[in-house]
Amino acid sequence: MVSEDAQAHSSAAARKEDHIRLAADQRRETPGRNEFDDLEFLHHALDGIDVAAVNLATRVGEWSWPVPIYINGMTGGADTAMRVNRSLAIAAQVTGLPMASGSVGIALDDPSTAASFRVIREENPEGFVMANVGAGRPADHGQRAVDLLEANALQLHLNVVQETVMPEGSREFSSWLRGVEATVAATEVPVIVKEVGFGLSRRTLTQLREVGVQIADVSGSGGTNFARIESARGGDAFGYLGSFGQSAVACLLDAPADFPNLLASGGIRHPLDVLKALALGARAVGIAGPFLLPALEGTAESLTAEIQRWVEQLRQLHAMVGAATPAELATTDLLVRGGAREFATLRGIDIAGIARRSEVRGLPDRSAGGPLNQEER
Ligand SMILES: Cc1cc2nc3c(=O)[nH]c(=O)nc-3n(C[C@H](O)[C@H](O)[C@H](O)COP(=O)(O)O)c2cc1C
Repeated sequence: MVSEDAQAHSSAAARKEDHIRLAADQRRETPGRNEFDDLEFLHHALDGIDVAAVNLATRVGEWSWPVPIYINGMTGGADTAMRVNRSLAIAAQVTGLPMASGSVGIALDDPSTAASFRVIREENPEGFVMANVGAGRPADHGQRAVDLLEANALQLHLNVVQETVMPEGSREFSSWLRGVEATVAATEVPVIVKEVGFGLSRRTLTQLREVGVQIADVSGSGGTNFARIESARGGDAFGYLGSFGQSAVACLLDAPADFPNLLASGGIRHPLDVLKALALGARAVGIAGPFLLPALEGTAESLTAEIQRWVEQLRQLHAMVGAATPAELATTDLLVRGGAREFATLRGIDIAGIARRSEVRGLPDRSAGGPLNQEER
């Protein structure tokens, strides 16, 4: 006889298979507009620099990452998850991107699924790997997840909206902040707190800082939408929550200026969205949904080529706007329009200052750059 516990655990792996299938369906829809479209770089036609002068390395906490993009937490569990994780891990190994697993809670409850998580480390022995668990779990689960993956960091996810929409989801959230604090204390590697697509507000980031969290991924709305995914699984009981939450753009605008290390994800569709998130202060940008379809339907090689295309275009976009590093994007002029502008106005955020940031750096030095070649002379 199958115990109730084992049934619950195997259904967690089955739920993950549903998530992969339904998230992939969302990706097949034409990518819609989102709040990244409300953000525009003011174009300066003489600010461009040489692509060769661009260095994409970024600092996140104590680490230096070679590129400011990482593969965000998605899977682990059953067969499809194993295949997706293997492809993602091979691509991460070749491209040097940091990579997070999906929630390792599945493997902590049902060790027979551990191999589908372990593959992330096996395919990428030297790479930067993040384990992932939910904030509602006991404090020692974070370290157990880290141990399973020999991970460099732990992602701790806050998913109160997703749990609410899930018929079998948790209904008890009051202990989560204390849980975050206890997990930070019980984990030997840095803890990155993240949402799963509904955003982290200024208030939440302040609370996280107070309990010792130094790194947070705002993971906002506009991309993978778990209210819609769970509604599709559970008979549409909460379909009206489909537009709940804040976008990454809104979260980055609203974040406390002194939060130590902000990461952004949620709704990134292409390298220009990455550039915008970096320009709004993110140290690095997480991508989940956009890499899911290539991981699911292509080979590890085609996924790797797709990621390399993102990195190369991101380098070119840096040169186009005249930023030699991601940090230099802080002095680009950004126009905040539409819904993001309305959000900023309602929250009292100075967006006029963001539209004139280049004034602090003055005009580029005319003597800089290589000599003109024969034809240019
Ligand atoms: C199939 C799938 C499974 C996911 N599972 C997890 C998870 O286990 N833990 C987690 O923190 N986030 C999970 N996420 C959320 C992502 O990490 C990310 O926060 C969210 O998808 C928004 O990014 P996107 O718009 O690039 O997809 C999952 C996303 C997808 C697409």
